[in-house]
Amino acid sequence: MSIAILHAKDDPSAIGRAAAALRRGELVAMPTETVYGLAADARNGEAVARIYAAKGRPRFNPLIAHVADRTAAERLVRFDPLSRRLAEEFWPGPLTLVLPLANRAVVSELVTAGLDTLAVRVPAHPVARALLAEFGGPLAAPSANRSGHVSATTAEHVDADFAEGVAFVLDAGPSAVGVESTIVKVEGEDIFLLRSGGLPRAAIEQVAGRALRTSAPGEGEAPTSPGQLLSHYAPNAALRLDVRDVRPGEALLAFGSDLPPGADQAAATVNLSPAGDLVEAAARLFSALRELDGTAPTIAVMPIPGEGLGEAIVDRLKRAAAPRPG
Ligand code: TXA
Ligand code: MG
Repeated sequence: MSIAILHAKDDPSAIGRAAAALRRGELVAMPTETVYGLAADARNGEAVARIYAAKGRPRFNPLIAHVADRTAAERLVRFDPLSRRLAEEFWPGPLTLVLPLANRAVVSELVTAGLDTLAVRVPAHPVARALLAEFGGPLAAPSANRSGHVSATTAEHVDADFAEGVAFVLDAGPSAVGVESTIVKVEGEDIFLLRSGGLPRAAIEQVAGRALRTSAPGEGEAPTSPGQLLSHYAPNAALRLDVRDVRPGEALLAFGSDLPPGADQAAATVNLSPAGDLVEAAARLFSALRELDGTAPTIAVMPIPGEGLGEAIVDRLKRAAAPRPG
């Protein structure tokens, strides 16, 4: 088994076929100047869930939304003047900006992992740009490698990592930069470096006229490694996991068709997937937590199988259920 490789430079139908697959909610591996990205329609929760399934990623980390240009980015997020200045200077290119969401509906909550900020970037690679222009919307795209493997910088790397779950890989030769984009977040007068990457710190510092900071605001340690963000969305309600019954006054986060005793008395119920489909469940997870939050002091959560995307769902639920500081 291997995935279909389209030669982006000499196949005139490649971009159109890839864009059509993305519109159907399928995954396409696209070349960017940094690394190959595993792209999905950022507005389609099930498509984004398929990224995690294909990567075998055990946790939901927030993803970068790729857009065609700054005008497209302005529809997704609210720019402060300093971030806008950085975008003008470095886009298209290997810089990702974390900015407040314009509103919650612009991308699936699986892209932001429930945060109210979104990481956005305009890639410089001509094939990525052509695909974004043809697709006409934001593409969520982490590096196109299986979780735990090194990032893919050639179509062959992508092909070696994925036997299935990816419609096409657009082959445009080796990535020029070879490491992921640099990620920064402006907070007032400060610019925090969240991930070092393809755009050197000094280049940003020169344009910004200030040194980049490396520790996150309000936190002692720098959130340098991906997924280490402490600010992941957690509901106000307490979570009770793996329930066999629903207690009086509890809300119910259901999965599958076989509801536990007491379910008919629940304060509110959201079923992640009546059919027991983990892709559908992942796509709904964050909005379901949000919907149930405030309906009851405790959300009872039915058991979710731990295989496939279930591992990431369970990880996320365990974090949401863990005792919180303060
Ligand atoms: O070069 C790149 O950036 C590649 C290519 C494909 O464009 N993409 C990439 O995406 O590296 P990804 O999804 O693997 O990187 C996402 C990282 C997360 O690990 C997280 O650290 C950070 O971006 N991130 C995403 N959203 C964030 C947010 N709202 N706040 C802080 N960090 C965020
Ligand atoms: Mg990665």
